Amino acid sequence: MKSAQEMNSTAMTQHDKGIRPDHVVAPQVHDEVIIRMENVNKWFGPVQVLTDVNLTVRKGERIVVCGPSGSGKSTTIRCINRLEPYQKGQITVDGIDLGASGRNVDAVRAEVGMVFQQFNLFPHLTVLQNCMLAPMKVRGVRRKDAQELAMKYLERVRIPEQAGKYPAQLSGGQQQRVAIARALCMTPKIMLFDEPTSALDPEMVKEVLDTMIGLADDGMTMICVTHEMGFARSVADRVIFMDRGQIVEQAPPEQFFTQPSHARLREFLGQVLHK
Ligand SMILES: Nc1ncnc2c1ncn2[C@@H]1O[C@H](COP(=O)(O)OP(=O)(O)O)[C@@H](O)[C@H]1O
Ligand SMILES: [Mg+2]
Repeated sequence: MKSAQEMNSTAMTQHDKGIRPDHVVAPQVHDEVIIRMENVNKWFGPVQVLTDVNLTVRKGERIVVCGPSGSGKSTTIRCINRLEPYQKGQITVDGIDLGASGRNVDAVRAEVGMVFQQFNLFPHLTVLQNCMLAPMKVRGVRRKDAQELAMKYLERVRIPEQAGKYPAQLSGGQQQRVAIARALCMTPKIMLFDEPTSALDPEMVKEVLDTMIGLADDGMTMICVTHEMGFARSVADRVIFMDRGQIVEQAPPEQFFTQPSHARLREFLGQVLHK
């Protein structure tokens, strides 16, 4: 575990490189393991898409997952909240065994928020209603409390003034921030992001990344699939590279970007960093 001082000196180095001057003190990563994937294997029909995926995430850790299209990034994070079943191996989330039976799915989903590339907001509900729905339906939160919660998180993503609008009346960046607020309304312990900025016009990427940086600074455990390497560099505690259904390499960002050990990662970085 890094001390605050070490974190500060890391941030200073990043400052010198002009990466992220505003990021000064990162919250501590706890020793407690919150997600454990052990030898997870998954097939779609005859096609194996995950091969012996092992991943241990500690509370408060910020993980970025990158890799070529089709390498299994989405499938991996979707297995964590069991949007996808897997056939072999074991996943434990905050001590809950996500066994093959799917028995504990609801318990796990209550702890894990997810944000998708396509915001997936309900078009016929206002922003406020989108945020209130799950807490009321799933958690049994009373309307008044759900509304308070929704406004709290809409303020957190800095769009409380849009509460009465419908998703189609918002920009892509605003819709994605609503999607983040909606996930936060379930007060998850873990947030999973699947390429949250990939569907956005370039000028809207920053507002969504800034929202995610805010969450990271607050100590949220996060796994983000993204090709925003600037974000990975300055926010991630660990960057993971997947290729052909496997975790090929993982390292703290500095090492990941400056001393990649696998040829496939070097090739990938060559492509994404010099676009
Ligand atoms: N529902 C599905 N049915 C069949 N194959 C799928 C399905 N979803 C994903 N795949 C395949 O699984 C592999 C991994 O996909 P995915 O996890 O989406 O990769 P990534 O997110 O890294 O682009 C790919 O070969 C993809 O074609
Ligand atoms: Mg994907």
